[in-house]
Amino acid sequence: PTQRRGYHEKVLDHYNNPRNVGSFKKGDMDVGTGLVGAPACGDVMKLQIRVNKDTGRIDDVVFKTFGCGSAIASSSYLTELVRGMSLDEAGKIKNTDVAKELCLPPVKLHCSMLAEDAIKSAISDYYTKNPKAKTTDLSGT
Ligand code: FES
Ligand code: FES
Repeated sequence: PTQRRGYHEKVLDHYNNPRNVGSFKKGDMDVGTGLVGAPACGDVMKLQIRVNKDTGRIDDVVFKTFGCGSAIASSSYLTELVRGMSLDEAGKIKNTDVAKELCLPPVKLHCSMLAEDAIKSAISDYYTKNPKAKTTDLSGT
């Protein structure tokens, strides 16, 4: 695979052309916000999901990441991955799924960890705001 400055081409693609950058109003009840930091480097990722309460699925998702190329690519890829997923499905995403897709080297694994932490944190924020959602039937999966 093509490597430039140590980054895999898939990382560069997401880095140069990040998908779904933006933010939702944090106060919206159908929005879950995840804000996480990587202790190793201080990079920060904000990920927000908009959940359709009828289907229990993620209708829309945006991010803002202050971090390295791998962190930006990880969050960009994550937004593509989780769109349309149920919260259960999205909550099961592992950083290694992201790292594998982007061919991240071992020293960049913590960057993809940020993505896993961010989606988990966004989901738990949504459940905090919508405690009843937990009992909603999500069996459409
Ligand atoms: Fe934080 Fe990568 S070390 S930018
Ligand atoms: Fe810190 Fe990538 S080097 S998130």
